[in-house]
Amino acid sequence: MKTISTNDFIKLSVFFNVAFVGIVFALNYNFCGAAIATDIIFLIGLTTGFVFNGLMMVLNFWPHLLTYKPKMPTKVKDLLPKPKPTTTPAVVANTEIPDITASTKSPYLQPVAKPANIKVAGKDANLYQFSDMRFDFHRLPHILLAGTSGSGKTVALFNILGTIKRQYPMARFVVIDYGNQDFEQTYPTDLTTFLKVTEAMFLIMKGRQLEGKQTDRTRIVWIVEEFESVLGEIKLEPKTAQTAFYVRLANIGRMARKLSLNMVFVTQSAKAEDLNTSIRNNFANRFIMAMENNSLAGALGCNYDVGSLPTGVGYSSAIKAFIKFPMAKEPPLELIPYNDLMRLANYYKVKYNLIIDEDNE
Ligand SMILES: Nc1ncnc2c1ncn2[C@@H]1O[C@H](COP(=O)(O)OP(=O)(O)OP(=O)(O)O)[C@@H](O)[C@H]1O
Ligand SMILES: [Mg+2]
Repeated sequence: MKTISTNDFIKLSVFFNVAFVGIVFALNYNFCGAAIATDIIFLIGLTTGFVFNGLMMVLNFWPHLLTYKPKMPTKVKDLLPKPKPTTTPAVVANTEIPDITASTKSPYLQPVAKPANIKVAGKDANLYQFSDMRFDFHRLPHILLAGTSGSGKTVALFNILGTIKRQYPMARFVVIDYGNQDFEQTYPTDLTTFLKVTEAMFLIMKGRQLEGKQTDRTRIVWIVEEFESVLGEIKLEPKTAQTAFYVRLANIGRMARKLSLNMVFVTQSAKAEDLNTSIRNNFANRFIMAMENNSLAGALGCNYDVGSLPTGVGYSSAIKAFIKFPMAKEPPLELIPYNDLMRLANYYKVKYNLIIDEDNE
């Protein structure tokens, strides 16, 4: 069924209302003289107009209503651990629980198929297909993708996010696409917002820590694309602000391990002045894509000549082997709306009376 636009609908309904009232006035003028009759007929006219509008609205919008799927709104409640059930839960057979800790070779990133043997600038190396990988987030919670422009970081990131979604279907995502190019939706990309998100993550981690042991926390995956731009802007801030920023990121990273937060950051620059030791240490699960400077790759844990790596191939510091990423698109991500993240942080801030001490976190 063809529907009309909301604007046209409003114009039409105003037209019909005026027309109805006009007709009623005309009838009234012809057939009645008394003031009370005028009022009654005027009201009848107006009511008829409204009823007509209602009908129009239903006819016009019902196809939309039939197909309307509300976007799942996040409430702070949804992000908090659920209250413990009072009844005894049904026992789940062991075989129904996917075994994600079983390790074949590395306890961190687990290749489940045999690698191909390749040579990288004359040196023997192993090459795995990414589709055979799964993550152990309890050991290495944070991922860093570094490489020059066009080395395939974003495509690798989409692969990684697809795997995370399969491993943790209930995970919720925070996306800061600083270059505004790669993701369907992003949080605002300015330094003030970035610092607010960082503060919120810190409060959420503190809150979760104080909440004590929980088994059903919502996993939050915090994605930052083009992190080098954030670092570039931070460098323009006063030294004390820079130090506070690095300390906070490191603290979030340290707490996150046990509190179901994973940081997945992507950067073009691996220069020590950008990616200092505290950031590097935070992201122990690193993928090094093509990069001109081998000593920078070395600082990230890769001792191969990565200058000539083809697009879509990266070195994994976790399994000490190369990985070939297939072409991939952004998987659908269940985002936490910005305001909800702020509300969640504020919930914990108020609940536990948290005060941020910049100098002494
Ligand atoms: N695994 C892959 N297989 C095939 N083609 C790829 C692969 N990865 C990347 N490409 C190709 O290379 C292009 C650049 O990749 P991508 O955008 O991931 O690079 P990038 O490192 O994120 O670059 P930038 O730093 O500029 O954002 C893609 O548009 C795609 O065409
Ligand atoms: Mg990119």
